[in-house]
Amino acid sequence: MISGRGSNMQALVDAIASRGFDAQVVAVVSDKPEAPGLLWAQRQGLETRVLKPAGYLTREAYDQALAALVERFDPDYVLLAGFMRILSDGFVQQFAGRLVNIHPSLLPAFPGLKTHEQAIATGVQWHGCTVHFVTPVLDGGPIIAQAVVPVLADDTPNVLAQRVLVAEHRLYADVLGWLAAGRVRLSSQGRVIVDAGSPRAYVL
Ligand code: GAR
Repeated sequence: MISGRGSNMQALVDAIASRGFDAQVVAVVSDKPEAPGLLWAQRQGLETRVLKPAGYLTREAYDQALAALVERFDPDYVLLAGFMRILSDGFVQQFAGRLVNIHPSLLPAFPGLKTHEQAIATGVQWHGCTVHFVTPVLDGGPIIAQAVVPVLADDTPNVLAQRVLVAEHRLYADVLGWLAAGRVRLSSQGRVIVDAGSPRAYVL
């Protein structure tokens, strides 16, 4: 699910082809018809769907329609790749254990928006990205993997975002590989267990 550029979605699609993952993108779903990633997905011959929030009276009503749309594709996993809406509890619970997000910070630092601005403003020397299962707590679900990049003295938010994005593409693709191979599971305590051939944390 995307809302914009879709570079993470592209990285996932590319990784399935180039790394031979046993996975298939059954659909790319956007809340925004103008999302540039949709055009790219269409050009790859992928199924795309747009569901605009306009016309739905509540967030819950929209999310119910969105869940119904997604369920029609019967996905094993729903990967949020720059999907910029907060999903309501009903949606999250319906897809519990198969709803995954990528967030551009080292959670639990900097949930929400403007993560690169926050990283620079607070003076952290390490920043990065996190792939996690989604729970009703915003950006608070169990962490699957993280990648770390340095914050350099003359970084602007855009420069730092670009460095993190490189890490995002690699990290999300790795996690997709683990998911496709059945190597990720949640323990009864809600901790992530990964039987990974590659590290769950690395520094780029
Ligand atoms: C990515 O940096 C992703 O981590 C972030 O939006 C960007 C989407 O870029 N997601 C969030 O901030 C979610 N809270 P993309 O459309 O090129 O993948």
